Amino acid sequence: MRDKQGYLISFEGLDGAGKTTQVELLARWLDSTERSYIQTREPGGTPLGGEIRQLLFHRPELTITPLAEAFLFQADRAQHFATVILPALAAGKVVITDRCFDSSLAYQGAARGVGAELVKHLSLIAIQDRVPDLTILLDLDATKVRERTDHAQDHSGQRGQRSRFDAESEQFHQRLRAEFLALARAEPERIKVIDASRAPELIHREIVALVEWLFRDGAL
Ligand SMILES: Nc1ncnc2c1ncn2[C@@H]1O[C@H](COP(=O)(O)OP(=O)(O)O)[C@@H](O)[C@H]1O
Ligand SMILES: [Mg+2]
Repeated sequence: MRDKQGYLISFEGLDGAGKTTQVELLARWLDSTERSYIQTREPGGTPLGGEIRQLLFHRPELTITPLAEAFLFQADRAQHFATVILPALAAGKVVITDRCFDSSLAYQGAARGVGAELVKHLSLIAIQDRVPDLTILLDLDATKVRERTDHAQDHSGQRGQRSRFDAESEQFHQRLRAEFLALARAEPERIKVIDASRAPELIHREIVALVEWLFRDGAL
């Protein structure tokens, strides 16, 4: 049984799919409601996470192995859940997070080849079994994603700095997309696939409908 107090909503999808854009739009919408919420992200939702994020995305000379990468993401997540997400949920808040553990399943579990079972096990420990109530998967073709990210800011919002992940091949991103879609097929109640090729406002309206449904019924 989920705690009935807070709601955990995660956004997933490839870089450039529009996660940050939609997180912002949802936050503005929540501002217009009575709900108290926090907006956060993985990696980097805590001071420790900020350091881990720098290591992961901006220190290519470290040549982090896939397994070490998987552990770094889980260290970020363990800190994030223990000190930010779980306390906010316990206080009855809505938590919107830009990426969560499905990203680890897709990136490290599948695309990097660390293995789905191991990554899932580590993720469940890091999140203390508190899976999101609703996961919005912004689905977009890998070639379209590339067009968007070529013009976009990087993960940390610093223009012109591209992360290690942006440099991966289109094949890597196709693999990721397929993996995200497979995760959604396995958990259709929790993970809602949204066609992210449309205008931001249309996507936002669809997301609001899902969130209103979540708030009304307590579950999807
Ligand atoms: N629905 C959309 N259609 C076209 N461009 C978009 C859309 N959503 C976001 N963008 C643009 O694409 C780029 C990446 O969006 P962003 O929200 O940062 O994606 P993500 O956080 O998933 O990497 C940004 O330049 C953003 O303005
Ligand atoms: Mg983003």
